[in-house]
Amino acid sequence: MTRDTALETGLDHPAKGFGITRREILVTGGATLVTTLFVNSAADAQTPGATTKNGGTKPVYVPSGDDAVSHSVADNLFWTDILTEHATFFVMLMPGAELAGPRGRAEQFKASFAGQFEKARAARLDKGNYAAFNRSTVELVKPFIDFKREMQQAQQSGRMRSLVWPLFFDHTAREAERFIRRLDQLSKGDADLEHAEVVDFWARIMDEHAEFIAHLLDPQEDPLIEKALSSSAAFRDLRAKKGSKSQAETLAKSIIDFKTAAAKGIQAGQIKSIIPPALADHVRREAVKFEDELRRA
Ligand SMILES: [Fe+2]
Ligand SMILES: [Fe+2]
Repeated sequence: MTRDTALETGLDHPAKGFGITRREILVTGGATLVTTLFVNSAADAQTPGATTKNGGTKPVYVPSGDDAVSHSVADNLFWTDILTEHATFFVMLMPGAELAGPRGRAEQFKASFAGQFEKARAARLDKGNYAAFNRSTVELVKPFIDFKREMQQAQQSGRMRSLVWPLFFDHTAREAERFIRRLDQLSKGDADLEHAEVVDFWARIMDEHAEFIAHLLDPQEDPLIEKALSSSAAFRDLRAKKGSKSQAETLAKSIIDFKTAAAKGIQAGQIKSIIPPALADHVRREAVKFEDELRRA
């Protein structure tokens, strides 16, 4: 059977336990399919002020209300977990003795954000203490942004030869910079999300996620690579044209479905790639966060 025939018929790797094929993941990718792919992890501990959206291996923390305290709780939980994972990916992608220095620094950031996540879970933030907690997070994030920018320069100048793309350092630095801007705004009591800012920030992030996926898939996963690249182009277009709320929502839903199906396909060994399952779930959670912010903006 040729590769193309296998893809068309979906006969090469029937999904174990789910009764779906790679072809169906690619073509369908819809909400109905997605809800059947994952068992909700509803047992995740709730923190007052935040609620969780599930669908993957980890919950997505979103504000339970529209006030600055709820947003602070959710954003501290969501982003400190995301930053812990950025550090985890850097450690994973900095192998060998010659990268022991930067790898060790990434390990320290990983521990620092895992610790702050636990503090955010235990903190019980209220009007009296949330701004101080936000400031303590900001002080941890700043040196991590500096590290990402330093590594970006080292990698793109050829002084460092890790497996981390310069764009991945830049992308993750922008996520951290936006987290700080958001915490500073929340600390002033302002929880407003502005539609134009939400679309501009997240459309670029979603565009780049699709590019990451395209470049980490097996080089012969042609239809999935094409789908990822067309998704990247759609987000670039949305950003350039400052698309409407409904256009953004439609694209957000489709990228969540694509990432959720891809994450499951990767986990089930149905999609050939070098995408770690944790990275697939990471970009899925960011897409769910995007959709949640869009709804509030
Ligand atoms: Fe991220
Ligand atoms: Fe990201």
